[in-house]
Amino acid sequence: MLETTHFTDIDDISASELDRVLTRAADIKSGADETQLPRATLAMLFEKPSTRTRVSFETGMTQLGGHALFLGPEDIQLGHGEPLSDTARVLGRYGDAIMVRLFKHDDLLEIAEHSEAPVINGLTDDAHPCQTLADLLTIREHVGEFDEVQAAWVGDGNNVGQSFVLGCAMAGIDLTVATPPDYAMDDEVIARAAELGEPPKVTTNPDEAIADADVVYTDVWISMGQESQRHEKLQAFEGFQLNEDFLADTDAKVMHCLPAHRGEEITGDVLEGDQSIVWDQAENRLHAQKGLIVELLDK
Ligand code: CP
Ligand code: NVA
Repeated sequence: MLETTHFTDIDDISASELDRVLTRAADIKSGADETQLPRATLAMLFEKPSTRTRVSFETGMTQLGGHALFLGPEDIQLGHGEPLSDTARVLGRYGDAIMVRLFKHDDLLEIAEHSEAPVINGLTDDAHPCQTLADLLTIREHVGEFDEVQAAWVGDGNNVGQSFVLGCAMAGIDLTVATPPDYAMDDEVIARAAELGEPPKVTTNPDEAIADADVVYTDVWISMGQESQRHEKLQAFEGFQLNEDFLADTDAKVMHCLPAHRGEEITGDVLEGDQSIVWDQAENRLHAQKGLIVELLDK
């Protein structure tokens, strides 16, 4: 059982709970843990598009013997004036859990405040903790024990990166973050990481970040909702692309949460190359979230 009711970001759980969720996920993946959740229902509310999050949660619930339902804002009264708080109160009375993908993180917190069922963050503008669970599971599988891993985040200081920073601090992974000066992680996130463990080293030099890395992680430069910033961001991120030249002196594994924009933050060659572990990383969303759900629902 987890102490927290809701999973709004990775540090809602403790470091030992994180280890337990990841171990549970690995056991479910291997077939050693056959926990079922008959008739459990997950309501999934999406303000933004999704492939992995939607399909891995839905598939995961089916595999656990339960059910997931997709709710776009236009499909329900939320998109037609019903407040978030009322939506949360009602969904929380029907479902065993609610998974939400929203723009504003504060909206997620408002849903959590009013829902009696656990609320899981399936991505907000600030955080993507389910992605971090899958990322850590993948690192454990491909690289090894966390306290021996050196990781680099190269690119935007975005939602995926921020939850990864917190997760690395909790897991004891030695992380260096390289972002352009105007696109750093929030100071508040770095401060939280320092409270959880070792905070990341922060640089604006991507070469420095990957020098000793076992894992190099990037994400899109233009996240959902930032389309109007496209021109200025493409200029600011020059030199931050994961391409064969940039990675010439490292055999580090390459991670990306997907979807990727080939030719922007990563080249097709690197994404498809021998160092890439992105497809295992994507698969692990399924296993990691099943581990989270069984622990969150105390089964
Ligand atoms: N990585 C991730 O969350 O992908 P989707 O946007 O497809 O869900
Ligand atoms: N940073 C990206 C992640 C997508 C899964 C976005 O928010 O669009």
